[in-house]
Amino acid sequence: MRHLIWVCLVPLMLVAQEEIPIREEAKGTLEYKDFEKPESCASCHVDIYQQWTQSMMSQSYTHHWDEIEYFDLAEAHAEAVPELRPVVDGCNGCHTPMAFLAGDLPPARPEEGTRANEGVSCDVCHTIVHAKGDPPFNFSYQIDPGRLKYGNKPGLESPHHDTEYNAFYETSEYCADCHNEKSPFGVWVKSTQIEWKEGPYGRDNVTCQVCHMPRALGKNAKMAEQDTVSQHLFHGAHSPGKVAGAIEVRMHPKEREVPWDAVVVLEVQLFNGKCGHKVPSGSVEDRIMWLHVTATDAQGKTYHLPVDKKGFEGEEYTIASDVLAYQDMGVPLGKPDFKGVRREDVPIGDRIFRMPYFDPEGRMTIMQWNTKSLGVDYRIGPRETKIETYTWRLPDDIPVGKITFNAQLNFRKLVKPVADLLGVPEDESEIMPVNSTTTWVQVYEP
Ligand code: HEC
Ligand code: HEC
Ligand code: HEC
Ligand code: HEC
Ligand code: HEC
Repeated sequence: MRHLIWVCLVPLMLVAQEEIPIREEAKGTLEYKDFEKPESCASCHVDIYQQWTQSMMSQSYTHHWDEIEYFDLAEAHAEAVPELRPVVDGCNGCHTPMAFLAGDLPPARPEEGTRANEGVSCDVCHTIVHAKGDPPFNFSYQIDPGRLKYGNKPGLESPHHDTEYNAFYETSEYCADCHNEKSPFGVWVKSTQIEWKEGPYGRDNVTCQVCHMPRALGKNAKMAEQDTVSQHLFHGAHSPGKVAGAIEVRMHPKEREVPWDAVVVLEVQLFNGKCGHKVPSGSVEDRIMWLHVTATDAQGKTYHLPVDKKGFEGEEYTIASDVLAYQDMGVPLGKPDFKGVRREDVPIGDRIFRMPYFDPEGRMTIMQWNTKSLGVDYRIGPRETKIETYTWRLPDDIPVGKITFNAQLNFRKLVKPVADLLGVPEDESEIMPVNSTTTWVQVYEP
């Protein structure tokens, strides 16, 4: 079994490695001690330090799901399929850049408390000089650790280090080297900056920093003058307040008053008015957003309404079902006959906003490094509005009176059956409410 997979991967990997930079040459060129610890910035950059400790940047190596996916899936996969080694080492190029640059691969587990745990640290980010590529992707940053810290302001003075204004810090390309990723098969498995660039915010140059490092009056260092300071929030899918309201939802019936034997037709509008890229973005292989619509009649009985099909190619991936998926996890998990787990644990018939990733055998995967192709992109783009329709023949015994409809839009960071299988703590697969709305129709006397 292993041998078979090896053989079929080799030619593909060889082709791909020529064009996908995996930065082998950068491994082991620096040492941990070339970088300062975040704690050494904390005494002066008080607020920024505390903000960073609460963000995912400080947890990019230690966070539970990262540890599970890196060690139990990616590392295990590289052990079964040695050609994957450079790609799996490359996880660290973004998640713990110091470990990658120090050639400490694989780094020790988080519980060992090594410096790999610092993740995307202050000193990593502030000694980046530039990034290669248009757009940059796959940790293509050029980095030069030392006394000189780059930032967004000219002419600052610090007793601890030198400073220099670097216009690159104010661009979305600065974020792109870690937020765009190509798989070894040449597929864009992360494309947040590309989605941004192709959309209205990219055209107006409303950068990532505007929404994820918003500016506010304050002090960037204890001894600094009051000024407009970029807040280091980096709040995203792990921040319920960021996800809440990311999409607005409204709904109306085609007719307000209907006879008892009517066919009720509802239209739901979903507007992305808050997000500079598609929703979901980033770890799209893990994430789903879905719309759950119910009707409650005058006697309090509740019915679940499945979405109307639109008939586009790949639509089956956007409507919840009980099919199994993610069979490719069987290789790293050492279960050659692994049948997969449910694709999603969502009420059957609900519309899902997602983009499926496929392994070399055409099965859905959450292992982005094993992604050979992408399926239908049914996510909601920046300032895009999608409309979903629900056609419902009233049940024969529907009581006269008001029917209230409820539309609930939910988000999940990681599809639940995968989280359950791998023992990922519940907060990673909890339901995050995005938005909801109601409307009604009146059923009149026969
Ligand atoms: C993911 C990369 C990243 C990390 C991690 C990061 N920064 Fe920044 N930092 C930036 C960027 C980008 C800017 C410029 C933002 C802008 O242009 O609005 C910045 C700006 C700053 C500024 C100037 C803010 C101002 O507007 O006056 C200071 C000071 C700073 N960072 C210190 C730190 C410290 C200390 C840490 C760790 C506790 C840290 N940064 C972590 C990317 C980062
Ligand atoms: C050196 C690589 C690197 C750079 C540069 C970088 N990021 Fe990140 N970022 C990461 C990693 C890795 C994570 C994932 C952390 C995790 O969940 O493991 C992340 C997470 C995030 C999240 C949190 C998403 C969530 O799921 O909650 C946001 C928001 C974010 N980054 C925004 C930015 C912005 C804005 C910039 C540019 C100013 C930037 N990043 C630059 C590596 C980077
Ligand atoms: C002893 C205090 C002190 C320590 C420690 C310190 N800084 Fe600073 N830093 C400052 C001061 C003061 C400024 C200038 C603030 C101002 O005038 O707005 C500054 C400015 C900065 C800027 C803004 C540069 C620019 O041109 O926009 C960055 C980035 C920065 N520091 C990063 C760091 C990092 C990373 C660390 C830890 C490795 C660190 N600092 C440690 C005091 C300190
Ligand atoms: C107009 C505001 C806006 C801009 C510009 C913007 N974002 Fe976001 N971003 C959001 C909102 C709102 C969310 C929460 C919704 C979500 O998770 O999809 C988010 C979520 C994210 C996430 C988590 C996505 C997920 O589904 O896991 C990442 C990562 C991220 N942003 C990075 C970036 C980067 C990198 C850029 C620049 C290329 C950027 N953002 C530009 C508003 C913005
Ligand atoms: C090009 C940079 C890059 C590479 C390479 C990369 N990642 Fe990530 N990873 C990110 C960023 C950025 C995010 C955050 C995206 C978001 O929030 O949606 C992320 C998110 C994740 C998450 C989800 C975190 C969460 O809590 O939802 C896991 C798990 C993960 N990566 C594991 C890996 C593994 C394993 C590899 C190697 C096979 C890898 N990553 C390679 C940049 C990278």
